[in-house]
Amino acid sequence: PIYDKYFFNESAYDYHDGGYVPLEVYDSPAVPLNIPALLKPDRETDTDVWMTVHAQPGETQILPGEKTKTWGYNQSLLGQTIVFRSGKTYHVTLKNSLPELTTFHWHGLDVPGPFIDGGCHAPIYPGQPKEITFKVDQPAATTWLHAHPCPLTGWDVWHGLAAMVYVKDAHEDSLPLPRNYGVDDIPVVLQDRRFHEDNQWNYDADYDPDGTAGPTALINGTVNPVFDVTTQKLRLRFLDGANRREWRLHLSDDLIMTQIASDGGLLPEPVKLTKLMITCAERAEVILDFKDYKAGDQVVLYSDDTPILTFNIKDFAPDNTVLPDQLAEITYPDVDPNANIHQVVLAGTDEEITINGRKFGMMRIDDRQQLGVTEYWDITNTNDCCGGMLHPYHMHGGSFQIVSRNGQAPYPNEMGYKDTVSVNPGETVRIKMRFNYAGVFMYHCHIIEHEDGGMMAQMQVWTPDDPHKKYDLMEMDTL
Ligand code: C2O
Ligand code: CU
Ligand code: CU
Repeated sequence: PIYDKYFFNESAYDYHDGGYVPLEVYDSPAVPLNIPALLKPDRETDTDVWMTVHAQPGETQILPGEKTKTWGYNQSLLGQTIVFRSGKTYHVTLKNSLPELTTFHWHGLDVPGPFIDGGCHAPIYPGQPKEITFKVDQPAATTWLHAHPCPLTGWDVWHGLAAMVYVKDAHEDSLPLPRNYGVDDIPVVLQDRRFHEDNQWNYDADYDPDGTAGPTALINGTVNPVFDVTTQKLRLRFLDGANRREWRLHLSDDLIMTQIASDGGLLPEPVKLTKLMITCAERAEVILDFKDYKAGDQVVLYSDDTPILTFNIKDFAPDNTVLPDQLAEITYPDVDPNANIHQVVLAGTDEEITINGRKFGMMRIDDRQQLGVTEYWDITNTNDCCGGMLHPYHMHGGSFQIVSRNGQAPYPNEMGYKDTVSVNPGETVRIKMRFNYAGVFMYHCHIIEHEDGGMMAQMQVWTPDDPHKKYDLMEMDTL
């Protein structure tokens, strides 16, 4: 089948919000889509890699005229793309040249918490670099890095602290998929901003407790981007890196997107769609086939009715590679029928948001799960007035599998590993979660202002040898 409808409930789309900021085309010339450089390791052996990730302030020429003051990782805005190979050990020096503390959170990486994971409890202070060491051991996937200081994640990400992080492995290497970075395999980071006077951003002026948004689409940090297509097949790695916005993606001529991967890597089977909705922090990899186009044609990517990225078709060699029907085996362990079922209730809007009836507490452990044991988590979005809104629910500490939505099968494109799932109003999504590392991990709504506003909790993954291990948790007021 070719799915031609977004899977989520229309009544919950962000455009029903009172504070919704519609996308508008910004009146500025088209520019080439920015493709960030790949981050070069400082040093490497067959088994180990050393690299430096540097959070830095800068200025970026986004629009004609004044440069925009921005933050980035190893560049002035967003970040150089980091590539990890599963099986290797990484020694990453985290450096901060910003005027304030930040953290480096590996969203979607399977690493120990809370310090390597980089959530709220892992501050890096200006001028005080720290080295973290971890082994990457998970399937090939598109993950990302973003700042996560509580409660200033929204502020940091709005300034630009978000980067693509690819995991590679031998299985993905063996499949006939485009993987020539920047040529037939490109990152597409979806964000939105409002440009104020002198082309500057102003988070405080645009702040909204239900999620900060702006009218201008910013794709890989570019406004009105154009990408030259020089191959018949093109792999797009979408990341919803926006604080709040959902993207309802479709192409001119209803060109089919073949989705091959979601948050945690390859789907079991490719899924063909003409409409793809992606909510905060989710990733989706799709392949476009331009076989019916010729040099000089244009294909446009839209979100709702607004064009956000133009593909200029150039000459390309014919490509007859056939996508396999099976991409990956998803082997999630079974749940012990007597296991505890964790409950997460997401409620409210604006300042009234809560998770399980309360707001985030830095020093409070809200739930516990044993290392290596798979358990169900039921995530409920209570019905609000006015249709309510979607909450993109995210867990640190690994990937889960979606079991059901209100007892029904998950959407066809969420059969792979996930770390973020959007929950419709009035819905309970059941997931299976197993942690492969001990530690304290956050779980929260990924509308970043909901997260900062307290729709976040934390859990301890414990081991029998030290079930009540104490971690040095950071108090919020030390910020
Ligand atoms: Cu992108 Cu707490 O996460
Ligand atoms: Cu995360
Ligand atoms: Cu939310």
